[in-house]
Amino acid sequence: MSGTQRTTAAITAVHGFVPDRVLSNHDLEAMVDTNDAWITERTGIKERRILGKGFGTSEIGVRSVLGLCEKRGIDPAEIDLLICATVTPDHQFPATANIICDRIGARNAWGFDLMAACSGFLYGLTTGAQFIETGKHKKVVVVGADKMSSIINYDDRTTCIIFGDGGGAVLLEPSTEGVGVLDSALYSDGSGCQFLHQRSGGSLSPSTIRTVEAKEHAVFQEGKSVFKFAVTNMADVSAQVMERNGLGPDDVTWLVPHQANLRIIDATARRMGLDDDKVMINIEKYGNTTAGTLPLLLWEWEPKLKRGDNLILSAFGGGFTWGAIYVKWAYGS
Ligand code: UT7
Repeated sequence: MSGTQRTTAAITAVHGFVPDRVLSNHDLEAMVDTNDAWITERTGIKERRILGKGFGTSEIGVRSVLGLCEKRGIDPAEIDLLICATVTPDHQFPATANIICDRIGARNAWGFDLMAACSGFLYGLTTGAQFIETGKHKKVVVVGADKMSSIINYDDRTTCIIFGDGGGAVLLEPSTEGVGVLDSALYSDGSGCQFLHQRSGGSLSPSTIRTVEAKEHAVFQEGKSVFKFAVTNMADVSAQVMERNGLGPDDVTWLVPHQANLRIIDATARRMGLDDDKVMINIEKYGNTTAGTLPLLLWEWEPKLKRGDNLILSAFGGGFTWGAIYVKWAYGS
């Protein structure tokens, strides 16, 4: 074997964005039949953020990517590819990735949207990393962002308490020093569609007055069923990625889990044998931002991360989709 390591995709910067407006559990008490104690106990959420009218998911992407470029000291024109993971694109078409690129001046980039619900950032990170590993590109941006408030029925207490708006982005660059995206296990099972979906607004059931009146453009979730699948699959895939990379609980520095429900996060950490102080959690502040949760965690924890830290990113979501990624952090001391 030669002395040089294979080229991997290192995360060289991260940035995020959440809107200022807070929707607290107490605010929701005035809107639907719920209470702070129930929401806190069943989900771990205390508040979430809401993006104002007139702004789409691209706003979250633009703010995140501009912050990213500033931190790394690069011009957006240096970006080769921008992938935007979202289930709440600004429009059905064109892609929100194209809109973000235009607004930030990423005039040399191509880009596309990718939909894998709450696993979107994992799918995007895995896809983006391939373009670095093959040598095709030098700078790839992966955005995970959602304006969930745009597809929530605020009369439905089973869903409106869960979701919020926000997201973030990472920059991927080549490394030959053994850091970056080192392994990834991704799965999907379309039979899960019945438990978590947006019934209308797509080609199967286009928008009509009836579909709008029936609020079929909002998220439908059969929470209990999704919970069962999520608990098992997120824990299993995280343990799988640890095991096949020879990582024991002492080797993992951080679990970076999708923020859907504190009980799902706890079950995943227990299965991995991790103590609570190794688990990134901010669900209490932002709720479930779908594709946004993982980059938001990385952004918040960035000051604490050190080069060489072993991170396991893990998620489960609509589709069903789920997976885990092993990242060795590339910077910080
Ligand atoms: O991120 C994408 C993937 N999504 C997930 O991973 C979400 C997975 N699911 C969950 O997190 C949980 O299932 C929920 C948080 C959505 C619900 O928690 P749960 O413990 O599964 O509650 P449940 O649906 O079994 O409902 C228990 C009770 C019911 O009343 P009865 O039938 O026992 O009288 C509900 O009607 O709680 C009631 N309930 C509420 N009560 C107060 C449901 N929503 C609320 C509410 N406030 N907001």
